[in-house]
Amino acid sequence: MTKTGKLVVLGSINVDHILNTTRFPRPGETVIGKQYQVAFGGKGANQAVAAGRSGAHITFIACVGEDAIGEGIRNQLIKDRIDTVAVETVTGTTTGVALIFVNGEGENAIGIHAGANAALTSERVNRHQQIIAGASALLMQLESPLDSVLTAARIAHQHQTQVILNPAPATQLSDELLSLVDMITPNETEAEILTGIAVTSEVDAARAAAVLHDKGIGTVLITLGSRGVWLSDHGQGQRIPGFRVDAVDTIAAGDTFNGALITALLEQQPMEHAVRFAHAAAAIAVTRAGAQPSVPWREEIDDFLQQQQE
Ligand code: ATP
Ligand code: RIB
Repeated sequence: MTKTGKLVVLGSINVDHILNTTRFPRPGETVIGKQYQVAFGGKGANQAVAAGRSGAHITFIACVGEDAIGEGIRNQLIKDRIDTVAVETVTGTTTGVALIFVNGEGENAIGIHAGANAALTSERVNRHQQIIAGASALLMQLESPLDSVLTAARIAHQHQTQVILNPAPATQLSDELLSLVDMITPNETEAEILTGIAVTSEVDAARAAAVLHDKGIGTVLITLGSRGVWLSDHGQGQRIPGFRVDAVDTIAAGDTFNGALITALLEQQPMEHAVRFAHAAAAIAVTRAGAQPSVPWREEIDDFLQQQQE
């Protein structure tokens, strides 16, 4: 297979149950919700959808359960321009679930049942190795078994497929996995867990990025929420600010950023342009509720960027 700018995303699929409350419940307390939404989510699926809607040529490796919601999600992924040939239905499992509280400040707290996502084993990943080998880039997160993430990274590395890791949710990772990663995109919390450096300033971000460079990662992007991102390319660091918008909820802000960023990079856009494109996509996403319902299409991102110039 030739490398033709193709993207493969490997990761999770969840159905999100989102309850908006004034504040998070304390232990033993019941709070009454103001709004409830069931929507498609999962970090892998959100990033795949962000890439599909922003124009990438993308194949998704993932698992759904043997249930109606899994079928519904698969159909939606197809509408989002994603090749679902490697989205497997796993017999005897249910599709992954995320229970999400969103408080009055737009912050969220999430609990997850992995369901079919736990069945995305190394054995399954190996079955899809031709897809990884033929892609220009592989984008992953950490809602899939860690062994499988490592297996996919090894296959990619062996075939000169760029490995991009969004290390979310936060966890410590082996040096072997980090050494196979070409680009990493932690938020501030994830950067701290990976490096031991609390990221509260640009100096901290530069120090955390240096630790990740020392592990063998060439490009580090530490996302800083509304402040944008710290980009460190082989030690050359700078903050690239995001766009000012009225945020409703930030669910899938990071996912949208990742999917849009890789799409732009695969179009050969220079890194700073690609980051700006990703900031625009994520800024639109935070003005809308939910995960995948909030992810913008290419035309919306282009219009948003155009308006910034007027
Ligand atoms: P989440 O877990 O909420 O999806 P994250 O913690 O992975 O997000 P963040 O660093 O919060 O990632 O945000 C990722 C990107 O989303 C930022 O770099 C920025 O482009 C955009 N973003 C996040 N919050 C805002 C905001 N309030 N206003 C504008 N853009 C935002
Ligand atoms: O990053 C947001 C996602 O995290 C949600 O869609 C939810 O499914 C959890 O996986």
